[in-house]
Amino acid sequence: MRKPFIASNWKLHKTKEEAREFLNSFREKVKYVSDVEIGLGPTFTSLGTVSDGIEGTGIKLCAQNVYFEDEGAFTGEVSPEMLSELGTDYVIVGHSERRQIFGEEDRTINKKIHAVFEHGMKPILCIGETEKQRASGETESVLKSQLKNDLDGVTSHQAGKMVIAYEPIWAIGTGESASPEDAQAGCKFARDQVKKIVGNEAGENVRLQYGGSIKPHNAEVLMSQPDIDGGLVGSASLDPESFADIITITEEL
Ligand code: 13P
Repeated sequence: MRKPFIASNWKLHKTKEEAREFLNSFREKVKYVSDVEIGLGPTFTSLGTVSDGIEGTGIKLCAQNVYFEDEGAFTGEVSPEMLSELGTDYVIVGHSERRQIFGEEDRTINKKIHAVFEHGMKPILCIGETEKQRASGETESVLKSQLKNDLDGVTSHQAGKMVIAYEPIWAIGTGESASPEDAQAGCKFARDQVKKIVGNEAGENVRLQYGGSIKPHNAEVLMSQPDIDGGLVGSASLDPESFADIITITEEL
């Protein structure tokens, strides 16, 4: 039985003060939620504030990125140990914004996944196709190649504990989510690939999130799909009310 996991990706939003305000209202709204795992993904500078603010709540702390080296001359980077020290549970790896804007490649993403596991945290690996790739019928080959390269060397035990977020790039930040059928098909395809690459047990255990314009009004139909085990929420996670609504709608399914 896979427990649904709804996580926020705040991207480049919220100061520490704004994160504190969010928590004051959000904690209250989700305090009786027990059947959905909740994650919050602040910027690096707010991780400590959010870590303190969620103490004792069961809410998980998610970082948005990491470097794969432990230390050294890597100006501007943050190590897995530094994230772990702050109480980080999950690290988002390979988000399409990192791939597209910052030129992150599968080779780097694979190293990050290994580094996250080595430091006792779990990766949330993001995969997804562009609008152009979708239009030319390449969705499955793109997902297949990303998973094959990103999961290289990942053990069955590790893969079973990780999270994969299928985020079609054309649905991110547009207000137009994928249809439930397309979101389900992407997640099912990713699960089947994990089975092929790492093994059946890992494929059954790995949690597949959908991401891309999840809102309270479409949460029910998306989250009730058989291979969708939760969501990675951007814009709608910035407001405590709409993020809590998505979580409570999922819990009632
Ligand atoms: P939106 O929910 O704003 O579309 O963002 C999705 C996303 O990129 C989550 O990682």
